[in-house]
Amino acid sequence: MNKTILEMKNITKDFSGVKALDNVSFSVEANEIHALCGENGAGKSTLMKVLSGVYADNEFTGDIYYENNKCEFKTIRDSEDLGIVIIHQELALVPDMSIVDNIFLGNEIGAGVVVNQYSAIVEAKRLLKLVGLEIDPLTTVNKLSVGQQQLVEIAKAFSKNVKLLILDEPTSALNETESENLLKLILRFKSEGITSIMISHKLNEVMAISDRITVIRDGKVADNIDKIEEDTEMRMVRSMVGRDLSNRYPDKTAEIKDVIFEVNNWTVKHPNDNNKTVIDDVSFNVRAGEVVGIAGIMGSGRTELALSIFGRMYGNQSSGEVKLYDNIIDTSTVTKAIENGLAYVTEDRKEQGLILIDTVNKNISLTSLDRVANRGVINPNEEIKQSESYRELLNIRSHSIHQKVDSLSGGNQQKVVLSKWLMSEPEVLILDEPTRGIDVGAKYEIYKIIDDIAATGKGVILISSDLPELLGMADRVYALHEGSIGGVVDREHATEETIMKHMLGISAEGN
Ligand SMILES: Nc1ncnc2c1ncn2[C@@H]1O[C@H](COP(=O)(O)OP(=O)(O)O)[C@@H](O)[C@H]1O
Ligand SMILES: [Mg+2]
Repeated sequence: MNKTILEMKNITKDFSGVKALDNVSFSVEANEIHALCGENGAGKSTLMKVLSGVYADNEFTGDIYYENNKCEFKTIRDSEDLGIVIIHQELALVPDMSIVDNIFLGNEIGAGVVVNQYSAIVEAKRLLKLVGLEIDPLTTVNKLSVGQQQLVEIAKAFSKNVKLLILDEPTSALNETESENLLKLILRFKSEGITSIMISHKLNEVMAISDRITVIRDGKVADNIDKIEEDTEMRMVRSMVGRDLSNRYPDKTAEIKDVIFEVNNWTVKHPNDNNKTVIDDVSFNVRAGEVVGIAGIMGSGRTELALSIFGRMYGNQSSGEVKLYDNIIDTSTVTKAIENGLAYVTEDRKEQGLILIDTVNKNISLTSLDRVANRGVINPNEEIKQSESYRELLNIRSHSIHQKVDSLSGGNQQKVVLSKWLMSEPEVLILDEPTRGIDVGAKYEIYKIIDDIAATGKGVILISSDLPELLGMADRVYALHEGSIGGVVDREHATEETIMKHMLGISAEGN
């Protein structure tokens, strides 16, 4: 058995009377990768902030022992001095500064004296190499991808003496390749003797790299898993949501009827390059009550297809027809697309879906102001009444509809986005990665909403890179391959393998 290097005992922390952590005990062994899991709002980040001195020792109750010494951290510096380094959920680099300046910000080489730029660059190069990012340290951070910025954060962590590395949802903003690389890096750190705590609600990642798992639910420890076994994933889900989710997808209640929506011979050119065809002669349809999945690897044109249909948001070089109930409809602007019965819930809630600094109420009524306004004057009572009914319908967990959206969890933000579009009463709802970054419990609720929408006879188009999700939710799946339809499979015949083949352009009859 490894020796225990960290013990947090009976930690209780509240925020103005609300308990975020309730008597939590948590221990970590030397040189392990310990996953800390739980749904949004469970208390994971708070526990790690307690550990790293973000909250001083008089701001919570309970004890922390690190390498058998009792710790009473007053600041982050105090924990860093012992080699405990946290990389927060929100990246904290200064975008307009160079990599090297970011790495040594607040921690300048040469202790107290003027920073020696030359040795800083040499050291930055060494650190970047350590994390596998071989790039000029003088590059400004805003030129880097999110994945690269994440690596800079880790390099920055290693400019300090790290023994216990804490990563708070490190892959939430990364694509698949970047995530895989990061996981490999964490495994490499382990082989070099570093202990890691990784917060994540992505079960596959946790299964892939962790030695032990602690699950937190509602501020309490819900489970301690000491060994990864075959049934661990189900056990985690159960502990995270507090009930059995033997089926992660709701039973279908919608009845499928006639075709209501058709896209025919849809072709889209790249907005900046007429010679490049992004979508090539795509035709598909959606029936009333049907959930139609769109699969495709990255770059296959999934989002471009949706954006070009919905208000020509992807340049105006598109041709083909869009039909609703047998009539050709005009979807050439977002307003017209909405007026003619479409809605599009975007992949990126923060960029396009929501106005974060505004309230739940304002966000919900954003697209259907005409329904709550009389001759352009918004009737606040009507607006509140409608928003309130959606908050109830979708079980949005906020104190009230007047809470600002940026303080809600990802799952609840997504429900606000859905309400916003449901209020515009579309005939066909296009959902682009609706559950990305959302934990299992909230996912289930969103799936339930999707099924409810279909059950009212509407059509749903579900764009997703999550194959199990498409298998669980879609009645038919179209696979895009390099901008064309690679194939379509119905629910009965859909397997990950068949969909994958179509996505890769390998025909079903041999290849
Ligand atoms: N600074 C804060 N002020 C008030 N409430 C907070 C604060 N930070 C976290 N909380 C609340 O504490 C609970 C746990 O949050 P958090 O630790 O961020 O959860 P997790 O990281 O598991 O998603 C949530 O209900 C959250 O709203
Ligand atoms: Mg968190």
